[in-house]
Amino acid sequence: MARVLVTGGAGYIGSHTMVELLAAGHEVVCLDNFCNSSPEAVERVQAITGRPVRLFTGDVRDRSLLDALFRAAPVDSVIHYAALKAVGESVARPLAYYENNLAGTLTLLQAMDAAQVRRIVFSSSATVYGAPQRLPIAEDAPLAPFNPYGHSKAMVEQVLRDWCAAAVAAGRPAAAVALRYFNPVGAHPSGRIGEDPAGTPSNLFPFITQVAVGRRAELAVFGNDWPTEDGTGVRDYLHVVDLARGHVRALDWLVAHGGFVAINLGTGRGISVLQMVQAFERATGVRVPYRVVARRPGDIAACWADPALAQRLLGWQATHTLEQMCDSGWRWQQANPDGYRSQAARPGR
Ligand code: NAD
Ligand code: UFG
Repeated sequence: MARVLVTGGAGYIGSHTMVELLAAGHEVVCLDNFCNSSPEAVERVQAITGRPVRLFTGDVRDRSLLDALFRAAPVDSVIHYAALKAVGESVARPLAYYENNLAGTLTLLQAMDAAQVRRIVFSSSATVYGAPQRLPIAEDAPLAPFNPYGHSKAMVEQVLRDWCAAAVAAGRPAAAVALRYFNPVGAHPSGRIGEDPAGTPSNLFPFITQVAVGRRAELAVFGNDWPTEDGTGVRDYLHVVDLARGHVRALDWLVAHGGFVAINLGTGRGISVLQMVQAFERATGVRVPYRVVARRPGDIAACWADPALAQRLLGWQATHTLEQMCDSGWRWQQANPDGYRSQAARPGR
């Protein structure tokens, strides 16, 4: 049993990971400033699992808060999700992204050092590879991010590599796993927690579910002239519950190993935009009207993972089907048409 601090635990991936951690018998402490999430998500994690989460409301950049947290709620490992994640916004507000994602991680690592906590799982991203030269993408592919968000993730990976090396050299065992996620979609099978983007979703899957539930008229497909099978963009979509379980496996790896490793989490299978629309329609019986528009600037044609290292080091592989991704995502969207706000708006709570 581990005692785990989950930064950004109220967010989309963090909330699903807290469920899997609690289900595996771990104790969970959550730190979130709710800049992109709702405390309701933490309530629901506790309702789903019947187990408590110790919640600290605050910012990962706040060193004195972190020191107080490590004193009040001693942990042995950290899973670090807290970050800003909108690629387009990162181009317009690079300093906010380096501040939050890079400086936030530096502050966290300094506080961890002071508290002698030297195990961390970090949310990296397939975006660190940029436009891939070869598919599937293995971890030794060159890193070539092309926006501030992607750079912030690659920089943190380098920081973690150096931090581990220094600690190990000084005889203080440290271990860090950077998980490079491909495209997480779907929701917990209960439909009680899920992705709740603020404003217009920039990602494909939540856009599809919002069209299906009637919040938006149609999906804009960003180009059908890509060099792919049907001309639309291809990605490696993985179920968020599989992704969450990958973190629990990474935590087990940290306990048994030292040093830094970066590991892809994906299915190894590419799905086009139109294939995703069709899969969603098949799984739910709901039609998703769409219109093809121009390519989105900064997009790449295709991207999918070589997930062999995750299998070899963590014993992890994705098990959920595309149908389960669509079905669970739709269950969440239907039960919560306005995300966590749907519940908060209900009288008598
Ligand atoms: P999310 O926005 O739902 O979750 C992030 C959480 O962190 C939110 O609850 C937010 O309120 C919190 N947060 C942000 N800055 C904070 C700060 N300074 N202090 C405390 N809390 C803070 O995003 P997500 O989709 O769950 O992503 C989690 C992590 O995974 C992020 O690091 C993201 O970059 C990474 N990631 C996400 C994807 C994806 O497609 N969702 C893909 C690759 C990597
Ligand atoms: N797409 C549409 N219409 C939309 C939204 C997306 O056609 O309304 C297309 C895109 O052009 C792309 C595919 O659907 O071909 C997937 O797009 P997403 O925005 O869902 O995902 P990306 O792979 O572009 O980006 C996501 C995250 C990044 C992360 C990256 C790799 O948004 O933060 O995955 O992990 F870096």
